[in-house]
Amino acid sequence: MRSLQTAAIALLAATPALAAPSPRSKISYTRWMTNSILHHGVEPDFHYDEATLYNAFQDVIAFTKNDTLKQVYHDLVDGVVLEDGTIANYDYTKHSLDNYRFGNNILYWYEQTGDAKYKVAADAVRGMLDTHPRNLAGGFWHRDPSYPNQMWLDGIYMADTFYAKWTSLFQPGNQTAWDDIMRQFDTIDARTRKEENNLLVHGYDESKKA
Ligand SMILES: *[C@@H]1O[C@H](CO)[C@@H](O)[C@H](O)[C@H]1NC(C)=O
Ligand SMILES: *[C@@H]1O[C@H](CO)[C@@H](O)[C@H](O)[C@H]1NC(C)=O
Repeated sequence: MRSLQTAAIALLAATPALAAPSPRSKISYTRWMTNSILHHGVEPDFHYDEATLYNAFQDVIAFTKNDTLKQVYHDLVDGVVLEDGTIANYDYTKHSLDNYRFGNNILYWYEQTGDAKYKVAADAVRGMLDTHPRNLAGGFWHRDPSYPNQMWLDGIYMADTFYAKWTSLFQPGNQTAWDDIMRQFDTIDARTRKEENNLLVHGYDESKKA
């Protein structure tokens, strides 16, 4: 025991870098949380709960360069995006801003791999914006049919981030698209910001019926 301790102390003394706080120690909560979540089980799924978690994986991967996690994440997304670019169980007729969030994860893997199936999948999601119902101000309904004419702040996070990312990758010169994206931000900001505290309420109904 004593000789082991002595050996360990000798080793520490010989390698001061080990004794100093390692930059990795700063990410221990990240690793802890990631491993805990994976331990509890993560399903391949396009819904925004998973899509948001997957986005966190992207950030952890960028920060830690952890190839194991990257492979886990890749397998999860490939459990949803099939070989022909179809998104498993995705309802391509349902217009809900929540369902665009996963498009960001698809574009991540398109950028990582250049695999055409991700482009096919992302283009189909992007195409749904063309028929997404809008209110009179041009804002996307949060969901059809449940929330007609309503814009919700999280819809910006769900759909317009994807709209902007897709446009930046494939149609960076499309000013109509950029104006349309800005219109989403500007419209909901103008209608939901409260003068008294400069904070935004969560949503509003352009038709004033809700
Ligand atoms: C890398 O990620 C895997 C899966 O999340 C995890 O088990 C492992 O502890 C991570 N390694 C490091 C050095 O963070
Ligand atoms: C540019 O974006 C607009 C709005 O999203 C879209 O309707 C139009 O088809 C796009 N233009 C081209 C050339 O694809």
